[in-house]
Amino acid sequence: METNKKQGRYERIFKQLQGLLVKTDDPIARMATVAAVLSHKFDYFFWCGFYRLTGEKLVVGPYQGPPACQVLEGTGVCLAALHQKKSIVVPDVHKFPGHIACDSRSNSEIVIPVYDKSGSISAVLDVDSTSFNSFDETDRLNLEKIATLVYVIS
Ligand code: SME
Repeated sequence: METNKKQGRYERIFKQLQGLLVKTDDPIARMATVAAVLSHKFDYFFWCGFYRLTGEKLVVGPYQGPPACQVLEGTGVCLAALHQKKSIVVPDVHKFPGHIACDSRSNSEIVIPVYDKSGSISAVLDVDSTSFNSFDETDRLNLEKIATLVYVIS
């Protein structure tokens, strides 16, 4: 998608989410709303959702898309983002050492840390695409902004 078009869409989505996330501070409800809106607005978001930190593992949370791994442990892009405390953009998942393939149709991926009110990472936002090179800096910056809405009280 062309950068300006993508940026404009993210800006409209951010405003829409600010309007929707006013009824509850429950992070699960907010994750569900974020996943639903993103999934419906971007057709290249093949899988879009959250994994929540539980001990050393990531357990699947609200998502849209085909059934995914319930628990991630050991390796993978999501755990790498958690351990490195930063977003990771993967143009080709087949070249990422330790990538966990929940669905063989995924070819590129982006993972964004989600910080709770204490400043700790409590979850990650994960988006997969069936195309290679789907995610860029526009996705990273805007998804990082959107991820802050999970724990913000409007
Ligand atoms: N590919 C991820 C696993 C989650 S699925 O993409 C939904 C990973 O390597 O952590």
